[in-house]
Amino acid sequence: MPDKKDIIILAIESSCDDTGAAVIHNGKMRSNIVASQQIHEQYGGVVPELASRAHQQHILPVVDAALKEAQISKNDLTAIAFTQGPGLLGSLMVGASFAKSMALALDIPLIGVNHLDAHVLAHFIDADEVQFPFLCLLVSGGHTQIVKVDSPQHMEILGKTRDDAAGEAFDKTAKMLGLPYPGGPLLDKLAQSGDPHRFKFPDSRVDALDFSFSGLKTAVLYFIRDEKEKNPDFVEQNLNDICASIQHTIVSYLMRKLKKAVTETGINEIAISGGVSANSGLRTAVKLTSQKLGWRVHIPALEYCTDNAAMIAQSAHFQYVNEDFADQSTVPYARLNK
Ligand SMILES: Nc1ncnc2c1ncn2[C@@H]1O[C@H](COP(=O)(O)OP(=O)(O)OP(=O)(O)O)[C@@H](O)[C@H]1O
Ligand SMILES: [Mg+2]
Repeated sequence: MPDKKDIIILAIESSCDDTGAAVIHNGKMRSNIVASQQIHEQYGGVVPELASRAHQQHILPVVDAALKEAQISKNDLTAIAFTQGPGLLGSLMVGASFAKSMALALDIPLIGVNHLDAHVLAHFIDADEVQFPFLCLLVSGGHTQIVKVDSPQHMEILGKTRDDAAGEAFDKTAKMLGLPYPGGPLLDKLAQSGDPHRFKFPDSRVDALDFSFSGLKTAVLYFIRDEKEKNPDFVEQNLNDICASIQHTIVSYLMRKLKKAVTETGINEIAISGGVSANSGLRTAVKLTSQKLGWRVHIPALEYCTDNAAMIAQSAHFQYVNEDFADQSTVPYARLNK
């Protein structure tokens, strides 16, 4: 039975095409439910209008399942949290409206969570090994950043992508190879039995700790076009090696920037997060580099890499303790101005 002083938060995630709900009880994760949307596969990418409609269908069963698994009645909740942004506005609206209505009906506080901070704070889910300050390589479908994390409330972006995100680089090059959406995980799988040094692709020379992936995308496009002119079956015959070479280019580029950030800041407490942190090549590279250079690394469990409500719940717990609440006039935001 929950005590009156307990902090029990229901968190809702609906920023893109996954509908998630999680319950966190005094900082311990009690449930984490996600319903993914398959409908986008046939279009080769997320269709925003279809995503919002699917969130509307999924949200009630997902919230019910999260409460049930946590064995928490809605009357025991002390706050409702939701992803406020960044993300697809129509998708965010579904989670925000649901959370606001529930908070109003139960007369409990509302917490608006930043999705990117949540990806970073996923490292604190049922764990307290990460020490501040740490550097986080945040690599997802929409963002690529190196973040200096001083506390759950204080994060500084040291570098970010000037065009595509690392996840997009995976998905778009995978699409050029004829792989279904989202191509990142499949490209990773095929890369595991390929030669990463067989083909050379350029990476971009942008300054400092910023990133750029548009050059790689163009290079892969022209490479496939030129090779197919010589041999129409080139992609099929060399798929594993092409995937391995693309993955190697992206991972080496990310690692080069991460090493530079470590040198510049002197911080060697390192974390990776976001969907691309599920990539086997990146996970291995981070582990090997940490052994060589003496970093302390934190790699999230696979279920906390891509979008999930547990990370929203974890962030919300920190915000609750800090009394960082939202009110009923709070609206979602598609982009972040920081
Ligand atoms: N094993 C993998 N290898 C490479 N990329 C992967 C892997 N698993 C997932 N991804 C990529 O991660 C991305 C999805 O991550 P995530 O759910 O964090 O992104 P998002 O929520 O769409 O974007 P953001 O968090 O920036 O708003 C996709 O681009 C997907 O291809
Ligand atoms: Mg995400």
